[in-house]
Amino acid sequence: MIHKLFRTKSLALLMSETEREGRRLRKVLTAWDLTAIGIGCIIGVGIFVLPGVEAAKHAGPGIILSFAVAAAACACSALCYAELAAMLPVSGSAYTYGYACLGEIFAWIIGWDLVLEYMVGASLVAIGWSAYLVNLLKGMGLELPAALTAPPFAEHPGLLDLPAALIALAISYLLVRGIKESSRVNLTVVVIKVSVILVFIVLTAWYIHPANWVPFAPFGWKGIMTAAAIVFLAYIGFDAVSTTAEEARNPQRDLPIGIIASLVVATLLYMTVAAIMTGVVPYRELGVADPIALVLNVLHMRWASALISVGALAGITSVLLVLLMGQPRILFAMSRDGLLPEALSKVHARYQTPYITTWITGCIVAVSAALTPINVVAELCSIGTLFAFIIVCAGVIVLRFTRPDMVRPFRAPFTPVLPALGILLCGYLMLSLPLITWLRFLVWLLVGLAIYGGYGFRHSGLNGSEQAVGA
Ligand code: ALA
Repeated sequence: MIHKLFRTKSLALLMSETEREGRRLRKVLTAWDLTAIGIGCIIGVGIFVLPGVEAAKHAGPGIILSFAVAAAACACSALCYAELAAMLPVSGSAYTYGYACLGEIFAWIIGWDLVLEYMVGASLVAIGWSAYLVNLLKGMGLELPAALTAPPFAEHPGLLDLPAALIALAISYLLVRGIKESSRVNLTVVVIKVSVILVFIVLTAWYIHPANWVPFAPFGWKGIMTAAAIVFLAYIGFDAVSTTAEEARNPQRDLPIGIIASLVVATLLYMTVAAIMTGVVPYRELGVADPIALVLNVLHMRWASALISVGALAGITSVLLVLLMGQPRILFAMSRDGLLPEALSKVHARYQTPYITTWITGCIVAVSAALTPINVVAELCSIGTLFAFIIVCAGVIVLRFTRPDMVRPFRAPFTPVLPALGILLCGYLMLSLPLITWLRFLVWLLVGLAIYGGYGFRHSGLNGSEQAVGA
C-alpha cells in the first residue's frame, strides 16, 4: 500500500500518453506565443492595484526592493520550472513533475494545491476585473445596479457579482474554441497592456524627485519583506507557460524561453513602475487601489489616466484568460492518469481542446466569483503557488540525484544551490502569511487527501502496471 503511494511515472510512459487517440492536443504554440502567455498571466492586479497600498502601509519606497525579493524567489523557481518543463513537456506542470520524481501521493497533493493557484486565483482576478469595470463605467456616467455587482456576505452585500461570472464564462467559451485562437487574443491584449505601461514610464519618469525616496525604508526590513509576500502575487503566472507544454511546437527549446523571458520582462517593468510611483508621489499618499492613475492625476495628465484604466482592464482580462487556460490542462492530465474520472480528459473533436475540464473550470470560477467576497480567499492563492514552487525546486534536486542520466535540454544553473535558495525564499514568504491562511491551506489539503483516498488511489492508471513503479 505504502509502496503504491510513492510509485512514480516514467518519462517514456508520460510522453507516450500524450499521443493517445482522442487525448491529443494541438501543437501550435511558438516561443512568442509562450512568452506572451507568461506576460499575459503575470502583469495584472499585481502592478495596477497592489503596489500603492503596500508602499503606503508596509514598505515605503522600499517597495522597489520588495519587488526585487519576490522576483528573486520567482527567478530561482522559474529556472527550475524551465528545467523540468523542457525535460517533461506534458500538460500537468508541477503536478506531472511531482508524478515523475516524487511519487503519486505527492503528485496528487500538488495537483490539488494548484487548484488554489489557478481556480482560486481566477476567481480573485474575475472579482478584481468586475470592480475595475464598475469603476470605469461609473467614471463614464454609467452606474450598474449595486445588487448585481457585489456578492452576498460582503461589506456592502448584493445578490451576486454578475460581471465577474460573465467574464469567466465568456473567456471559457473562447478557450474551448481553440488554443491558437485564445493565444492570438492573448497576444493582442499583452501588446496593449505592455504599451500602456511603457507610455506611463516614458511620460512620468521625468518627474521623479529623488527626495521622495528618502527615507527609503520607513518601516524597516520587516516592512519590505511583508510587502514582498503580498506583491509576490504580481509574479504569479510565468509557471502557467508550463501548463501548455503539450501544445508547444518545440517545447524543449521554447518552454524555457517563454518562462524566463516573461519573468524578466515583468520584473523590469515592475521595478521601474515602483521606482517611478514612489519617486513622483510621496509614499504616504499612494494608499489607493489605482496608484498608476493617481500618479498621472497628480501630474495633471488626466487623459493618460483614462488610457491606463483601459490598459489595466485589458491586462487583468489576459491574466484571467491564462489562469482559465492553465487549470483545465492540469485537471486534464490528472484525469488522463486516472486520478480523476477519465471522461474529463476527452478532447474536443473539432477544436482539439480539453473542453470538458475548460467548462467545468469556467462554471466553478463563475459561481465562486459571483458569490465569494474577495478577502476570504486572497492569500490562499499565494500560499498555494509558493508551495508548488517549493516542490518544483525540490523536484530538480531530487531528479539530478535519482535520474542523472535523463536528457536535460535546459539545465538550471548552480544546482543544487539555486533550487535550495528558491526553497528558502519561497518558504520565508510562506511564513510571512497569516496563521488563518495556513489553517485554510491545511484543511484544503486534507479534503484533497480524502478525495484521493476515495477515488484516485483506486482508479490510478498505474494500478497493475509494473513498468511505472519506481521508474
Ligand atoms: N500575476 C497576476 C496579477 O498580478 C496574478 O494579476
